[in-house]
Amino acid sequence: MCGIVGYIGSARSSAKALDIGLEALARMEYRGYDSAGIAVISDGDIEVEKKAGKLANLQQQIAETGRDRFNGKACIGHTRWATHGRPNDVNAHPHVSFDGKAVIVHNGIIENFAPLRAEIEAAGVELTSETDSEVAAHLLALAYAAGPTAGDLEASALSVLRRLEGAFTVLFAHADEPGKIVAGRRSTPLIVGVGEDGMFLGSDVAGFIAHTREAVELDENNAVVITADGYRVMDFDGTPTEGRPFTIDWDLAAAEKGGFDSFMMKEIFEQPAAVRDTLAGHYVDGRVVLDEQRLSDDDLRQVEKVFVVACGSAYHSGLLAKYAIEHWVRLPVEIEVASEFRYRDPVLDRQTLVVAVSQSGETADTLEAVRHAKKQGARVLAVCNTNGSQIPREADAVLYTHAGPEIGVASTKAFLAQVAANYIVGLALAQARGTKFSDEIETTYRQLEEIPGKIEKVLELKDTVLELAAELGPIPTMLFLGRHVGYPVALEGALKLKELAYIHAEGFPAGELKHGPIALIEDDLPVVVVVPSPQGREILHSKIVTNIQEIRARGARTIVIAEEGDEAVRPFANDLLEIPQCPTLLQPLLSTVPLQFLSAEIARQCGNTDIDKPRNLAKSVTVE
Ligand code: F6R
Repeated sequence: MCGIVGYIGSARSSAKALDIGLEALARMEYRGYDSAGIAVISDGDIEVEKKAGKLANLQQQIAETGRDRFNGKACIGHTRWATHGRPNDVNAHPHVSFDGKAVIVHNGIIENFAPLRAEIEAAGVELTSETDSEVAAHLLALAYAAGPTAGDLEASALSVLRRLEGAFTVLFAHADEPGKIVAGRRSTPLIVGVGEDGMFLGSDVAGFIAHTREAVELDENNAVVITADGYRVMDFDGTPTEGRPFTIDWDLAAAEKGGFDSFMMKEIFEQPAAVRDTLAGHYVDGRVVLDEQRLSDDDLRQVEKVFVVACGSAYHSGLLAKYAIEHWVRLPVEIEVASEFRYRDPVLDRQTLVVAVSQSGETADTLEAVRHAKKQGARVLAVCNTNGSQIPREADAVLYTHAGPEIGVASTKAFLAQVAANYIVGLALAQARGTKFSDEIETTYRQLEEIPGKIEKVLELKDTVLELAAELGPIPTMLFLGRHVGYPVALEGALKLKELAYIHAEGFPAGELKHGPIALIEDDLPVVVVVPSPQGREILHSKIVTNIQEIRARGARTIVIAEEGDEAVRPFANDLLEIPQCPTLLQPLLSTVPLQFLSAEIARQCGNTDIDKPRNLAKSVTVE
């Protein structure tokens, strides 16, 4: 939710801050694309350009108005996902202070902006935007102009940070100190990039991965000052603290399209690797191991109940965790949308394990659910794709998915990696609690390890699915049905279609159809049916075959995803998409993939030409 970037070039660097900043914004755009803006700071001067809409609008505006005025070595920039105030030019960041000397970019929400705004107005300053963020620019200018912090950017910025409430990352710069950027964070991300030719700031490493792999994470309520050749970390009172240096293990190619026409398509094809890399290293010497395990096997044995909390696609992966954990571990599992979890006062105690699933590790709803669970004494296990993000930091144990950077806003490879990781969690619990023999655990792990090769086979369906979608054309609606683990897949298929094609779509448990939704079926309505393996539970399979017949009899166009060799469904499928055989519980790792292709192409048919950035969405949702 909003991407922020900052850069100061070293004395020997000949690169223009404007170019580095715009390049960083391009890599950060997936975090928000309601508007974009950049400020270049030079001695006594701040040059700002900002524009509503995607980054391309800003680039065009800069090309038209001229680049020569952007001369400084330092810049701060922003891509916005609007919270306070419409996505127009005025509300776009950066925000400049009343005296034209201070400039800020902000990600998050300043909860006490109303009293701060009133105070600034009382001082005679007229605010120009509808944002909560603008107050930070004026507060900085006021603190820099007079009083105990006058003439000191670092002290002034820290004084502003101490006054802000809410979740925020703010970057502060001042025309009178162009060689310095101060930044602070609370509950939203900020990473420092340590380059040979300059220092970087970013909401995530994608902003500077082209320039350096050396990065530093900051703790909660910490600030950093960057200059041309160094950085210092401190708390909001200015007391020096330690950042956490790390080396980025994603390569630049992972953050680029690599010949595909969209990041989403590239990421669909990266799914075998995402699942393979997530599984790697978690079955060692006959034992399932997590990444950061601050929970002992004894702690896991004491667990009496599991909650899975997550949002969106991550929530669908959590639904699958429920099937796996209940089956393998015989523990009751509740799965809950994270934004609902803490408001209904769930029963939590020391014997409760809360599994929080999040690609970004920043999702505010999931983070708050984690905090609530911890306050009630529950233990928290995070499944996360982003090293060092807030959710794994606050968890008692972590299992990282290794999907690499996911740039397409609609989750694909991160979702499959989450499903695989959730299954590892299930096996780790079964191992600790002795509900499965070690050879059974090994067999299941080996079956999981066969999945990436099977996903490769499913990827071969691409052209068939794209042709099918093109034939469907710009449909107004679509239904998705599944039973057992096919049900979360149906939900995920419907979500992908809604967010990409902007059409109504719904997923149902197939058995629920006749309790209402069957009334929606009419001639030619496309209905996707995810069919469980006929080798698995016979009862599941035969029931869904009956369901397909029911909808077919009422005129629906049945698009059936079934295992190779499943002859029973063939007569009732208008379109049959065959996937390799695999154990029932693992099938979602295969059956989801054709639905990703389907939604991408139907989106194109419905007029969405940029599937990487669906309207109104952002990659990481750092507000509740
Ligand atoms: C859908 C999608 C979202 C995310 C959700 C949670 O394609 O990407 O529904 O799954 O916003 O995000 P994370 O996993 O970052 O917590």
